[in-house]
Amino acid sequence: TTPEKLTIAGIDYPTDSWTNVPQSIISQYGRRLHIEPNHPLSITRQLVESRFPGFKSHNALPGVVTVDQNFDSLGFTPDHPGRSRTDTYYINEGTLLRTHTSAHEVDIFRENSTDGWTLSADVYRRDAVDKSHYPIFHQMEGALTWDRSSFDSPQACLDAIKQSFDKLPRHDLVVEDPNPPFHKERNPLQEKYHSAAEAELVGAHLKRSLEDMVVTIFAAADKALTASGQAVEGEKEPLKVRWVEAFFPHTSPSWEMEVWWRGDWLEVLGCGVIDQPLLIRADQPDRIGWAFGIGLERIAMLLFGIPDIRLFWSKDARFLKQFNESEPIKRFQPFSKHPSAPRDVAFWLPKSSKEAIVAETSSSGTSAPSSAGGQQTEPPRDVKSEPAFHENDLMEIARTIAGDTVEDVRLIDDFTHPKTSRRSLCYRVEYRSLERTLTTEEVNAMHEKVCGEMVEKFGVEIR
Ligand code: PHE
Repeated sequence: TTPEKLTIAGIDYPTDSWTNVPQSIISQYGRRLHIEPNHPLSITRQLVESRFPGFKSHNALPGVVTVDQNFDSLGFTPDHPGRSRTDTYYINEGTLLRTHTSAHEVDIFRENSTDGWTLSADVYRRDAVDKSHYPIFHQMEGALTWDRSSFDSPQACLDAIKQSFDKLPRHDLVVEDPNPPFHKERNPLQEKYHSAAEAELVGAHLKRSLEDMVVTIFAAADKALTASGQAVEGEKEPLKVRWVEAFFPHTSPSWEMEVWWRGDWLEVLGCGVIDQPLLIRADQPDRIGWAFGIGLERIAMLLFGIPDIRLFWSKDARFLKQFNESEPIKRFQPFSKHPSAPRDVAFWLPKSSKEAIVAETSSSGTSAPSSAGGQQTEPPRDVKSEPAFHENDLMEIARTIAGDTVEDVRLIDDFTHPKTSRRSLCYRVEYRSLERTLTTEEVNAMHEKVCGEMVEKFGVEIR
C-alpha cells in the first residue's frame, strides 16, 4: 500500500521498503509554528534567542534531510536505536524527516559565518500518544565555538574563553552539579583533541549560559503565574537546576539540565562539548565549542500553562487569540473542557510473535515534556529485524484515524496465557476533542476502525 512517490512541500520523493511517513504527518508538514507571529512556540523561541545576543538564527530550514545529515554526520553508530523505523519517519532509505535540529549542525559549521548560532525547527519522531507527546514538535539548537587558529597561542584562546565567561550575566540560581566536569568512562574528555583545561572552560561557559537562559524563562513564567493569581505566596520554592551526566553521539562530555519546578525535576535540555570529529567533518578542525538542544513545547507549556501539546496545532481563535508577542506573558485560560471517551482494545498477538515492544515512553527532554532521552543511547536493538508489534505502530494507527481527537493511548494490561503462552495486550485509547464534544457514535466508529486496522496490519486477534 506504499504509494510510488511521496509529495512533500511540492517535491516528489521516490518511496521504497523503508517508507513509513503517513499522510497525516505530511499534511501537517510546513506549518512552521515556531515562526508563526504571536504563536506561543514562536514567543518561546524569541525569549530563548534573546539570551544569546549576537548569535545568528536559522529558522527556516526544511525538515526533509538525508540519513547522513540526521545520523552519520553526527557520529551515530550504524546500530543506534534512533535509526529504527519504529522511531523515525523515513521517506525512503536515504531520506527522512529530521528527528532533531542537530541534523543541520555540520552544514552550519561548514558555512562558518558566525561563532554563535541558533536554529529552530519542526522535528519528527514516532512516539507515544499522550498530553505531552506529539509526532511533530519543535527544537532549538544552539552552538558557540572559538577558532583556535585565530589566536597566537592555545593559552590566548583559553584566556578569551575565560574572558567571555566572566562577561556572562550572573544569577543567584541554586545549581547542583555533583559530578566532575568529565569522567573517564561515563563522560569522557576528548583527550586526542583538547586538554582538560579547555574542555572544563568550554563546559563551564556552556553551563553558565544555559543557567542564565532558564533563569530568564522561569522568571517570566513566575510573573505570569503571579499576575493570574495562581502563585500562592509561601508555597513558592526557589528555582533550582541540576546538571546530570548524559550521552549524545555528537558531544562529549555531555549533560542534561533538569529544573526543579513545582515539585518535580523536569528535563529541559541536552548539551555538551562538540564532538571534534564532527567539526573536522565540517572543515573546522581548529574550532572548539559547545552545543545544546532544547524542546520548545515543554518550555512553552510551562511558560503559558498549556495543558495539552495538541493545543499548539489548534486553529481555534479561542486558543490563538490568547497570545501576543508584544505583551508580557499571560497564563493560558482553558476555554472549555469537553468530556473524554475512553475505549479499550484488547488483543492476542499472533502466535508466531513473542517479540513485542510495549510501554516505550520515549526518552527525551529535548523532545517533549515528561519524556526522557530522544537521541541518546539506549541498549542497542537490531535495526533491520523489527518486532511483529511495536507500540508506536498502534499510536500511529490511532493518530491516522482519529487525528487530534486522540488524547492518550496507554497499555493497561499485558498478560501471557500460562498454558498456551500466547500473549495478550490491552490498550486504553482516550478520545477527546479540544474544541467540541464527540458523539458516542463517532467515537465508536473511530474505535472500530482502530481495531480493524490492528487486525489487518498486525494479524492480532481482538478479544
Ligand atoms: N540532539 C539531541 C536530542 O535531540 C539534543 C542535543 C543537542 C544534545 C545538542 C547535545 C547537543 O536529544
